[in-house]
Amino acid sequence: MTSLERLSKSDHDREGFDCGVEALNDYLKNSARQAQERGLSSTFVLTEEGASSPKAILAYYTLSLCEVDQSGIPASYRRKLPPRPCGAVRLARLGVDTRQQGRGYGKTLIAAALRKFLFIHEQAGAIGLFVDAKDQAAASFYSRFGFERLEEDGLTLFMPFKTIQESFKE
Ligand SMILES: CC(C)(COP(=O)(O)OP(=O)(O)OC[C@H]1O[C@@H](n2cnc3c(N)ncnc32)[C@H](O)[C@@H]1OP(=O)(O)O)[C@@H](O)C(=O)NCCC(=O)NCCS
Repeated sequence: MTSLERLSKSDHDREGFDCGVEALNDYLKNSARQAQERGLSSTFVLTEEGASSPKAILAYYTLSLCEVDQSGIPASYRRKLPPRPCGAVRLARLGVDTRQQGRGYGKTLIAAALRKFLFIHEQAGAIGLFVDAKDQAAASFYSRFGFERLEEDGLTLFMPFKTIQESFKE
C-alpha cells in the first residue's frame, strides 16, 4: 500500500530520489520545499505506507496556479472565454523513481493531480490543467490520459475542466 503526502522537510528522503531526469531530481532536492513555503507551488510525494522517516519517495508531482491568455488556450475552447487572461492549474513536475517505474505510479499520480485540480476548480474556478512535457515521449505519456496538445507535436498539453469532471463520473 502507498500513501500520498504533501512534501515535508524532515519526513521525506529527497536525496535518495532518482527518476533518471536530473532537472526533476534537482527540483525535488533543492527547490520544491522552498517553493511550497513561499506559496508558489505544492508538491505531493508517494511513499510506502508505514515506512519509517525519512521515507523513501517513490514518485512525486508538483502543482501550481497559472494564468493563460487566449493564445495559450486551444482554439476549440477559446470561444466561450473572455478576451483576458484566465486562471488555470499547471502540472509543473511529475517523476517516478527509476526503481519504481512501470508499476502504475505515474498513472496514480496523474489521477491524484486531476482530483486536486477538481477541488481547486470548485473552490476558485480554473479552466483546466496544463502540462509542459519535457520531450515527445513524455508528451505521448500524457496524451494517453486525455491531455490534448496545443499544437501538433508541441510539448504543452491541456485538459479542460469538463473532461476532468467527466472522467470521475460513474
Ligand atoms: C514518464 C513516467 C512519469 C511514467 O511513470 P510510470 O510509473 O513508469 O508509468 P505507469 O507505470 O503509471 O504507466 C502508465 C501507462 O503509461 C505508459 N507509459 C509509461 N511511460 C511512457 C512513456 N514514456 N510514453 C508513453 N507511454 C508511457 C505505460 O506503458 C502505461 O500504459 P498502460 O496503462 O497501458 O499499461 C516515468 O517514467 C518518469 O518519471 N520518467 C522520467 C521523468 C519524466 O519523463 N517525467 C514526465 C514529465 S516531463
